[in-house]
Amino acid sequence: MNTDLSETIQLGKADVRVTPLGIGTWQWGDSMMWGYGKGYAEGEIKAAFDASVAAGITCFDTAEMYGFGKSERFLGKFIRADGQPVVVATKFFPVPWRLGKGSLLRALRGSLKRLGMQQVDLYQIHFPLPPVPIETWMDGLADAVQAGLTRAVGVSNYNVEQTRRAHAALAKRGVPLASNQVEYSLLKRDPERTGLLTLCQELDVTLIAYSPLAKGLLTGKYTPENPPAGTRGRMFRPDYLARIQPLIGLLREIGTTHQGKNPNQVALNWLICKGALPIPGAKNARQAQENAGALGWRLTPDEVAALDAASDAIR
Ligand SMILES: NC(=O)c1ccc[n+]([C@@H]2O[C@H](COP(=O)([O-])OP(=O)(O)OC[C@H]3O[C@@H](n4cnc5c(N)ncnc54)[C@H](OP(=O)(O)O)[C@@H]3O)[C@@H](O)[C@H]2O)c1
Repeated sequence: MNTDLSETIQLGKADVRVTPLGIGTWQWGDSMMWGYGKGYAEGEIKAAFDASVAAGITCFDTAEMYGFGKSERFLGKFIRADGQPVVVATKFFPVPWRLGKGSLLRALRGSLKRLGMQQVDLYQIHFPLPPVPIETWMDGLADAVQAGLTRAVGVSNYNVEQTRRAHAALAKRGVPLASNQVEYSLLKRDPERTGLLTLCQELDVTLIAYSPLAKGLLTGKYTPENPPAGTRGRMFRPDYLARIQPLIGLLREIGTTHQGKNPNQVALNWLICKGALPIPGAKNARQAQENAGALGWRLTPDEVAALDAASDAIR
């Protein structure tokens, strides 16, 4: 079945519907990884927001830690200026000195203040960090739903066992675990290998795929001759960039048979075909617009299998 641009999907069993592709906003104010302020700034990210909404993509993922609050502030500002309803997901960072569920509610109120909202649509635990047990944070999430501060709750970077525990703890409070946000792309297929994707499907938890373009690598613009600058340049060495080129070639080749889709649109469509909800980050209107072109069509099962094989071949 083709994905229609007007189609929405339910977030797990929660009463929240989202477009089958979202948009990540880590880039909006972050200078450490993404170089905010060098080559792009508020004008460009506002244009990314506007282009996204214009293309029908209305699910935005942020976090209190992105740009130390800047991302939430920008998102809130753009939403108020635009006035159209959107879906907002943000995240709680369980730093070790946050010890009780009261700290979660205080952090959520802080996020709401920065966003200028009364309620978010999805509140997620960013990482399963010790020392606080999963059950304590789930209790806090259930309290947040009860207090009307969020419509749905989720987790992020939780493995199979942690997802089971989170799901069970929330179920005791009658709250569904709506989502688990984890790294998933053609260059990072752990959710398939560990059984997390299958578990999420069994439990009716939406698997949100972060870094779906492998931090820009799957756009095909980075090669051994043209590596990314800054932190990503140190993460992705030229020999790795060389090894992924056959996969990029296949993404291009498959794209030509779908009215000239580009590698990033094919890579995002592959994730949608796997049943995940990708949230590519965008720094400007062109990137947001282009990524929206991943919707409205579908790869064939043979093409998905060919991409699986090309991804498996990268060692
Ligand atoms: N829960 C977590 O722990 C976690 C962790 C990471 C990310 N996330 C979320 O997931 C979102 C997406 O992940 P990500 O930002 O790490 O990586 P990504 O979506 O894989 O890559 C985003 C980057 O790729 C490049 N790009 C995107 N669209 C493009 C296009 N159409 N053409 C050319 N280049 C394009 C841009 O960087 P350049 O132009 O600089 O190449 C952009 O900043 C984040 O924004 C955040 O919301 C969550």
